[in-house]
Amino acid sequence: MENQAPERKPRVFSAIQPSGSVTLGNYLGALKNWAALQDDYDCIFALADLHTITVRQEPAKLRHNTLEAYALLLAIGIDPQRSPFFLQSHVPAHSQLAWVLDCYTQFGELQRMTQFKDKSKKHADNINAGLFTYPSLMAADILLYQANFVPIGEDQTQHLELTRNIAERFNNSYSPTFTLPQALVRKEGKRIMSLQDPSHKMSKSDENVNGCVYVLDKPDDIMRKFKRAITDSEASVHYGEGKNGINNLMDIYSCTTGEDYATIEHDFAGKGYGDFKAAVGEAVIEHLRPIQERFAQYSGDKAYLEKCWNDGAEKAAHIANRTLQKVMKKVGFVL
Ligand code: TYM
Repeated sequence: MENQAPERKPRVFSAIQPSGSVTLGNYLGALKNWAALQDDYDCIFALADLHTITVRQEPAKLRHNTLEAYALLLAIGIDPQRSPFFLQSHVPAHSQLAWVLDCYTQFGELQRMTQFKDKSKKHADNINAGLFTYPSLMAADILLYQANFVPIGEDQTQHLELTRNIAERFNNSYSPTFTLPQALVRKEGKRIMSLQDPSHKMSKSDENVNGCVYVLDKPDDIMRKFKRAITDSEASVHYGEGKNGINNLMDIYSCTTGEDYATIEHDFAGKGYGDFKAAVGEAVIEHLRPIQERFAQYSGDKAYLEKCWNDGAEKAAHIANRTLQKVMKKVGFVL
């Protein structure tokens, strides 16, 4: 029918911490998916800079990493005209709702979070309250936008489950206020492992420089890291139990070339691991090349980046403040 209001597409929200250089794990597990979702969903994306200070950050580095991550996400295909893309610290509603949600989150729930346990071990000299309550800030990020779907890698699914529990608890205490979000975890790339220790996820904090590939790594570095990847002694390219290293390389190859596992096994039958590792390195280099080229253009234009994140924050704040107002009213604050 004419003049009918267009139906709103389901909403997607996601964020990434600008706590260091963006990794191939971030990209294949989440960011690649963000760009693709923009056609079918009403997307909102953020750089979760407030989250980064749960671990000590050097101020100049944090500023640099934030700018770099913003430009890189544009290069990956986030379109800020279609999808508001902002810095979390520019929209105060995130911190405001996080406080309210802290009061609807149980100590025991936060204590069970594996990320909290891992990070407390890693930063034993700085187990601060923010590290502990991190998941309720993440819940605020998502719930403020009434997101239906949250594209993430597998390591964030526990936080999403907690977000749903917090939302349900609040809804049951008052009346329906928050949409219950669902995780969108792709089968491929959901958990990219370290190239040096394939029993651990690829992470910025990997102590071994060859374990983690960064989206902005130079081609020579990417190739070196793949050539040194830890595999097994079987010398046969197929997916299987006890072959974490090869399984991981097959996952990366599949994500960057679109080939399925059967085709990869067929194409590399009878070839050694050396050939396969070089092929994965080449596939990643070629996949990242256009992204790196676009990054070089965006990162040189700070005025454009500033304009995009200011516009994004304005649009995001408009939506976020509506939810926040509802919450404040329901809780009983005088408005
Ligand atoms: P962060 O910044 O650690 O990671 C960003 C995204 O990358 C995914 N990821 C991986 N996927 C596959 N393999 C890996 N090795 C790998 N490493 C990271 C993560 O799952 C994530 O999707 N708490 C979040 C940031 C956040 C957020 C949010 C996410 C803050 N607020 C609201 C969603 C919604 C984090 O630390 O992700």
